[in-house]
Amino acid sequence: MALTVLVHAPNAERLATYAELLPGLLPGARLLFTQTRDEAAAHIHEAEVVFSWKLPADLFAQASRLRWVQAMGAGVEDLVAAPLPKGCLLTRVEGLFGSYMSEYAFLHMLAHAQRLPAIYANAAQKRWAPCTIGKLGGKRLGVAGSGSIGMEVIRKAKAFDMEVWSLVRTARSVTGADRVFTMDQAGEFAAGVDYLVSVLPLTPATIGLIDPLALKQGAVLINMGRGATIDERRLLAAVREGRIEAVLDVFATEPLPEEHPFWSTPGITVTPHLSGPSVPAEVADYFAANFRRFVAAEPLVGLVDRQRGY
Ligand code: GLV
Repeated sequence: MALTVLVHAPNAERLATYAELLPGLLPGARLLFTQTRDEAAAHIHEAEVVFSWKLPADLFAQASRLRWVQAMGAGVEDLVAAPLPKGCLLTRVEGLFGSYMSEYAFLHMLAHAQRLPAIYANAAQKRWAPCTIGKLGGKRLGVAGSGSIGMEVIRKAKAFDMEVWSLVRTARSVTGADRVFTMDQAGEFAAGVDYLVSVLPLTPATIGLIDPLALKQGAVLINMGRGATIDERRLLAAVREGRIEAVLDVFATEPLPEEHPFWSTPGITVTPHLSGPSVPAEVADYFAANFRRFVAAEPLVGLVDRQRGY
């Protein structure tokens, strides 16, 4: 019997791309494509496998035949909290976003060190104003989170001759890290670094874990994980008092509301959650490889530990 796979994506273009790609990648599967809540609600009871982005979590209560959910992204806080049937497997995308996200982190660290915004501003006004640029070499980078994305940031940091501190959930050695801190040492970790790059997932243990007011004077905070891992009011205070600068790709509320002070605070760069793009061709291949494992009853890649939260 063909497995019934429900594919859900709210973005029409993305969904259309999946509808083109998946039939060739999953021969024999019965594919259902849904874009809206109503469409998903009409079909979820049929699904044995769900492949989704932002499928309204409460609908999983009706998914009585469901055996496996493959998320289209890396962060799965919504699915961890969803009423999945007992024994249903949950996998996330692991290993696809590291190159994009590490390049985003280095783009912004290098722009800061080499004073790129000031140089662009001068050039726009035809102003010949040489300034003293800095470098990343010899600076201390803190990487919060050490999954595949954090590890790629660390690997590249070593190529830039940075000292690397790593913040992890449970004590262990981390390849490339000069020092490793556990979550109870998050304050000491934050206070010691020149650049702090966070790729933390959102779990009960990481809410507000990074305290921007603990960072040292002149530090730069780059958040690519989840907005709520950093207290936004304290972040605003730390930037407003001139202690730190911040580059934020993720926010407690997305899209970031137009009236949010982050947009207009000097020292804060806002980007619209783009550092780790979910590229359908890449994610479809990842899903197809996992699908073959699922059919063969082999262990899946990117398996989420729902207790741990990611
Ligand atoms: C994006 O934020 C993702 O979780 O993949």
